[in-house]
Amino acid sequence: MHLQNLLFLFIILTTTHTTLTESSNKKTNSGPEINITKHLSFLDFSPKNRITNEDMITLLGSAAVSTEKNCIQIPENNLQYSAGRAIYSSPTRLFDPNTRLPASFNTTFSFQFQNPSDTSNSSSSGGLSFIIVPDEFTVGRPGPWLGMMNDACEDEYKVVAIEFDSRMNPEFGDPNDNHVGINLGSIVSETSVNVSDFGIRLNDGSVHRAWIMYDGHSKLLEIYLGPDETVLPSKAVYSGNIDLSPYLNEYMFIGFSGSTGNNHTQFHSICSWNFTSVSRAFLRVPSTESCESKITVENNEDHDQNIHSKTPSSFYVFLAVLVLVLTILINLYFNGKRKAKSDSDEVMVVPKEKQRPGPPNRARKFGLAEISSATRGFGELQILGSDSRSVTYKGSLLNGCNVVIKRFSRQFFSSSASDRRIMCKEVKAIGKIRHPNLVPIRGWCFDREETIVVYDFVPNGSLDKWLFGFGVLPWSRRFKVVKDVAEALSYLHSKDLAHKNVKPSSVFIDISFRAILGDFGFVLSSSESTRFESLVSQKVDVFEFGILVLEVISGRGRKSKPGELDLLDLAWAMHERDEKAKLVDRRMGQVVNPDQAVRVLEVGLMCTLNDNKGRPNMEEVVEYLNLERRVPELPSSRPVSLFPYSSTTGLCSGYSCAPFK
Ligand SMILES: *[C@@H]1O[C@H](CO)[C@@H](O)[C@H](O)[C@H]1NC(C)=O
Ligand SMILES: *[C@@H]1O[C@H](CO)[C@@H](O)[C@H](O)[C@H]1NC(C)=O
Ligand SMILES: *[C@@H]1O[C@H](CO)[C@@H](O)[C@H](O)[C@H]1NC(C)=O
Ligand SMILES: *[C@@H]1O[C@H](CO)[C@@H](O)[C@H](O)[C@H]1NC(C)=O
Ligand SMILES: *[C@@H]1O[C@H](CO)[C@@H](O)[C@H](O)[C@H]1NC(C)=O
Ligand SMILES: *[C@@H]1O[C@H](CO)[C@@H](O)[C@H](O)[C@H]1NC(C)=O
Repeated sequence: MHLQNLLFLFIILTTTHTTLTESSNKKTNSGPEINITKHLSFLDFSPKNRITNEDMITLLGSAAVSTEKNCIQIPENNLQYSAGRAIYSSPTRLFDPNTRLPASFNTTFSFQFQNPSDTSNSSSSGGLSFIIVPDEFTVGRPGPWLGMMNDACEDEYKVVAIEFDSRMNPEFGDPNDNHVGINLGSIVSETSVNVSDFGIRLNDGSVHRAWIMYDGHSKLLEIYLGPDETVLPSKAVYSGNIDLSPYLNEYMFIGFSGSTGNNHTQFHSICSWNFTSVSRAFLRVPSTESCESKITVENNEDHDQNIHSKTPSSFYVFLAVLVLVLTILINLYFNGKRKAKSDSDEVMVVPKEKQRPGPPNRARKFGLAEISSATRGFGELQILGSDSRSVTYKGSLLNGCNVVIKRFSRQFFSSSASDRRIMCKEVKAIGKIRHPNLVPIRGWCFDREETIVVYDFVPNGSLDKWLFGFGVLPWSRRFKVVKDVAEALSYLHSKDLAHKNVKPSSVFIDISFRAILGDFGFVLSSSESTRFESLVSQKVDVFEFGILVLEVISGRGRKSKPGELDLLDLAWAMHERDEKAKLVDRRMGQVVNPDQAVRVLEVGLMCTLNDNKGRPNMEEVVEYLNLERRVPELPSSRPVSLFPYSSTTGLCSGYSCAPFK
């Protein structure tokens, strides 16, 4: 490259740099104010509207449409201890982040509680609530929880609910077995009203109508309850000021939840529903500010607060030029190489564009004092979990970042010092890489006594909670989890690394429901060279990924209960009988795309094949899932001697070691 070109680049960079800085100094401009309104109206839920209703209402858990009454009914049949939700499928804007004002909304619905003839009305149990929730696929807990609360993320789950409760749960502060309550992020009502005072008996079998009105400006909430006529009763059962904004995301889902108790059932029906909301918003004037310029500016401010002047900025420009020149040279070099390679390769496989990892946030060494203060001296309240090798803590660093801190037990390493050395090397190697589907390693702390790994904290809980808890992940989300984990493993393997602990509790779900693989296993094996060891471990990863796929599709754990077939045995048995579709989690209901689920199941089974009998590598798995490569035929019956991988290495880990008949 000539000096001339360099100078030219330098000029371009300098000018863009200044314009970027200028524009980022300006305040974000907001344009004209607009009102966003939303209106829904369901006069009934009859079959003739069914085609459209099915698109618009997501039924979860034991919720169903009763064609007899043209109503949504929870539960569907005479089920005890069940929970269901009926959620309007599209999100509704209920909060304006600019003004921090909640939206105004009005809703009215008619509902009916009915007891099966064999139980007396007085001992009925259960209730119904109008809910505003952050997602459209979780069912809360049954029993007294009214399907309202979510187990997967206890603390952070935002929910607003107006409950119509015909059971008394003194532990939740209920006044009696006939009340209306307002619940804000908790099952314990903020306020509750004895509706007997208004001459209403919720479970008398008649059809009631409720009106809920909220004004986002004055924060006035009004609830009316009366017979199913369109006139508003003269007196509200509740009227008061409540700020809903702490419990609202910008977009929320609205609908109903209900549950039945241990000993009794009660049918809850919703037979018509109107909802209107108005939220304020400001149109944004397009801005020239780019995200990257912001990051650069912030970083400069972070690290060089005291020397933030003109000189360093031209130094950065110089650095930028250097990096750019290098990038161009490297690109030219590699493009040349790739071309040469693809020319010689017979099979043309277009390499998939890997997502570019985020800005480098390098892993670093932590001092024990820092770790100790982050975990409040390894306090018991901070413990997230433990196993035979380690205890995991939630920690909070001085800069406010939440982290997960995994502290390995001393006994674990007492047998071999070289194991620990290898592990330290591995932690640092994994700490160097970044991928959107891998939980970043933030750092480590290795001193004479301690072996500690620090991860980023992912707030939304791990996959096992979503899969085996009360929620029902829809198929689209499950498919995405499988693809995300496959991408993560494929990337890891491409770096000659392995995960060694693939299972649902190692997969975390972030707030945008992306799956992120964390909790690396760091399985140790000092007897093998690291490269060979990682090759074997990668094969184990593929096998374990196959089991994970089966778990995700079937919604059941890998370990068998006494008297039941192991999940892997069961899946192969179903395959031999050509009944694979029966393995698909039935709780997902009609939403599931059965062909796709069976295809993914086949990929999962293929991953459990003997290593020399067709087990793919992760790169191939990603291609199968993205339909970039045809999935080979599975053997029609399970291969006779099925070992997860060649047993000559002697490296075994629990489940994957046992020969399968
Ligand atoms: C939005 O609605 C409010 C009342 O809810 C009204 O005062 C305001 O003028 C409306 N704004 C626009 C732009 O329509
Ligand atoms: C709700 O109803 C009240 C009373 O009828 C009305 O004043 C208000 O504008 C309505 N709000 C919305 C968001 O429709
Ligand atoms: C609820 O109201 C009814 C009728 O006014 C009354 O008999 C009952 O004692 C009240 N219950 C409670 C817990 O206040
Ligand atoms: C049960 O409800 C029915 C109406 O559905 C009513 O006629 C009957 O009196 C109630 N029984 C008791 C014990 O409250
Ligand atoms: C619900 O909306 C429909 C259509 O907009 C209207 O005809 C009906 O009266 C509304 N019902 C109530 C109770 O407001
Ligand atoms: C429900 O039944 C169980 C036994 O089956 C009993 O121990 C429990 O007290 C009952 N609960 C209620 C609320 O009746």
